[in-house]
Amino acid sequence: MGNVVFYRKYRPQNFESVTGQDAIVKTLANAILNNKIAHAYLFTGPRGTGKTSLARIFAKAINCQNRNNKEFEPCNKCQSCLEINDGSSLDVIEFDAATNTGIDDIRALQDNAKIKPVNNKYKIYIIDEAHQLSKSAYGALLKILEEPPEYIIFILATTDPEKMLKTILSRVQRFDFKKILVDDIVKKLEGVLKKEQIEYELAALNLIAKESDGGMRDAESMLGQITTMSKKVTVEVVENIIGGVNQNKIASFVDLLIAKDNKNLFQAISDLDNDGYNLEEFYKSLVEYMQNLLVIKVSSDLASLFKYEIADDFINILKNQADKTDIKFVKQALKCLINNQSYFGVVQNNRLPIEISVLEITEEQK
Ligand SMILES: Nc1ncnc2c1ncn2[C@@H]1O[C@H](COP(=O)(O)OP(=O)(O)OP(=O)(O)O)[C@@H](O)[C@H]1O
Ligand SMILES: [Mg+2]
Ligand SMILES: [Zn+2]
Repeated sequence: MGNVVFYRKYRPQNFESVTGQDAIVKTLANAILNNKIAHAYLFTGPRGTGKTSLARIFAKAINCQNRNNKEFEPCNKCQSCLEINDGSSLDVIEFDAATNTGIDDIRALQDNAKIKPVNNKYKIYIIDEAHQLSKSAYGALLKILEEPPEYIIFILATTDPEKMLKTILSRVQRFDFKKILVDDIVKKLEGVLKKEQIEYELAALNLIAKESDGGMRDAESMLGQITTMSKKVTVEVVENIIGGVNQNKIASFVDLLIAKDNKNLFQAISDLDNDGYNLEEFYKSLVEYMQNLLVIKVSSDLASLFKYEIADDFINILKNQADKTDIKFVKQALKCLINNQSYFGVVQNNRLPIEISVLEITEEQK
């Protein structure tokens, strides 16, 4: 099966295969059909929702040598399209603002912008992580934008539009990308697995989609990871993976326990259940987590005991939580959890053991 990077292999190559950004696709397609191309665009939105992909598709479409005036899709066959696809185009320049922050990089960009496109109508700069551009870089960019040569187009992409300068924001046409819906993610994952001829359980894909919180790249990357571990994509395998990475959910659950926020605790249990999590597994992870909290509560020096199992970030979260609670609370909570663990398998509804524990833990100390 090998280690396939699905999110590269299945990057959308035309507008039609972009999922969940219909309004943006439509506006860009119309701009192409009406030949109303702006000089600067801003693509903002969460990670892995299609900003870079759409920037490349747009660049391909406006430079495509086979496209006639009544079409908006790139052909993906002409020299220009192929060069953009393999990243060798001299007229589509991808610039990562996070790493190219030096004044030299910007001077190079400024000089480069003065040179007409080599083989194409437009020269397109795709600037990733645009919020990380330095002041001098912004200055240079604004200068170009004041009187942009006919052939120049900038597409700025960022997950963090709040950090962009107002002077830049006022000069760009802005598109806000949305998180991708669970169903849309599931559909794409299904398509990938069918092409790869890998078997799957639909519920497993649903779990992956929910876990990736609207980010298609995360979903595809988790799927890739799973297919290297298992011949079939099952709920069980997905849960194993999520269990390992999903300390986040447990950490926020424990926050709620410490805050004795029963309403949100019950809501969280219901959400986990509806999202298809195995509540018994969650419960076990919660016990483990509380045990770690107990250890840290005894002495934060003991964190080194589990530094191989828990990421540093989470050790810091644990330490924070330890500061907010006393050892008696943690001890009682663990006792409740252990006592009630035997209810699993006895009661029909797996929510019940957690709900009872929650009530006992939060009551105990009142
Ligand atoms: N809307 C989408 N439709 C289909 N696939 C998508 C979509 N968005 C992302 N993907 C998948 O995720 C991968 C990464 O997408 P892309 O690079 O376009 O995300 P991005 O929004 O630029 O993310 P980042 O903010 O991290 O740069 C793509 O190769 C593709 O497989
Ligand atoms: Mg990107
Ligand atoms: Zn083409």
